Amino acid sequence: MNRCSFATRLANAYHKRPRGHRFTSSSPSLSLSLTTDLVNRLSRVDSSSAPDLDHAWAELRWLTEHVLRRRTVKCWRPASQVPPALLSDRAVLVATIDGDGRGNDAGHSRVDPFSEAEKARLQRMVDDRVVRNKPLQYVLGSQPFAGIEVRCKPPILVPRWETEEWTMRLLALIEDHISTSVARSFSILDLCSGTSCISLALAFNVSRRFPDLNLSVTAVDTEPRAIALGLTTRRHLDLPETVRYNALQASVFDAGLKDRLKPLALDGVFDLVVSNPPYVTLAEWAELEPVVKDWEDRKALVGKVDPGNSSSSSSTLSHEADIAAGVGYYPAIARIAKSVLREKTNESLCPKLVVEIGGDHQTQGVSQILREELGGNVSVWTDLAGHQRCVVSNDS
Ligand SMILES: C[S@@+](CC[C@H](N)C(=O)[O-])C[C@H]1O[C@@H](n2cnc3c(N)ncnc32)[C@H](O)[C@@H]1O
Repeated sequence: MNRCSFATRLANAYHKRPRGHRFTSSSPSLSLSLTTDLVNRLSRVDSSSAPDLDHAWAELRWLTEHVLRRRTVKCWRPASQVPPALLSDRAVLVATIDGDGRGNDAGHSRVDPFSEAEKARLQRMVDDRVVRNKPLQYVLGSQPFAGIEVRCKPPILVPRWETEEWTMRLLALIEDHISTSVARSFSILDLCSGTSCISLALAFNVSRRFPDLNLSVTAVDTEPRAIALGLTTRRHLDLPETVRYNALQASVFDAGLKDRLKPLALDGVFDLVVSNPPYVTLAEWAELEPVVKDWEDRKALVGKVDPGNSSSSSSTLSHEADIAAGVGYYPAIARIAKSVLREKTNESLCPKLVVEIGGDHQTQGVSQILREELGGNVSVWTDLAGHQRCVVSNDS
């Protein structure tokens, strides 16, 4: 994968949008309204491409829903019960935002028009998008991910669709494994956990399917704000008592990490380790779009040489060392996995280690690292865009 397409892919996390028709000032019933103004402004968020009206309408709907969620008493219908389909009717959206009293009745559903304070709030959020180029997930404060709502706050990395895709794929394998296993407990370790999107989505979905299973998920990240965000998401999830969520502020390069981890697994050993570590090279970082560089933590994205193996700092690397630094986290991750994973006696349907990679250019190097450290068989998962996305270590 070349660097350009990599940069585009990261930026696409914010700009995945269908191309639609262009707005014309002759659109009926929309002239000179606040809604028209906001749609026009939102259609220009991505200044590198032509205005996108359909996406602007979709964003406006999400922002409006967000404002409505704050309502407690004033809504004829509780905000949490406003059906999304209602606001996807543009006439209802216009009536709600502009408060002109038209169009907000749809059958037996109704949304009260915005107050002045709510209009001001909506305008501030649109300013954040348009003027400050703030990612939508940071404006809304959350992102749906594999069935859960993950809290998002700058500068903690916004979960990407590729990660969600492989998490769902892994979930199916975990469920197959548990259905055919006699064990009544399962422990998952998530290294470089960020928002804890992977571990909490797995915990939520597995516990729904197997309510009697004892489940432990442990999220590890160096960044205290990531740990705090994971705990907030966990608090708002309806997880049963059978699920234990541990959030540990630590580095995968800490020599004593494995000794801190083992007591957090249910039987002192983990059944599965997952990781989406920083893997971007300095050259790739230089080409990323401002929306990524301005808002997301550089340390969440840029890989670095294992400090145990090199004295170079990641800001002074040669080209070759920069390429190597892109995969600098994987040896440490594989070593931790080796020291905390359960010794499998039978062939398992579930992998023992799944790591996300930056693309095809890292497959060979990471596969070799996993093979040397963990043995067994190594496979590669490709994402929906056709890029190699995960290297997976299996038992046999
Ligand atoms: C690419 S982000 C992934 C976040 C999350 N797992 C996801 O998929 O959205 C990498 C994360 O690794 C964390 N990190 C960076 N260096 C680390 C280290 N040495 N040990 C543990 N976590 C680290 C960053 O703070 C960041 O949250």
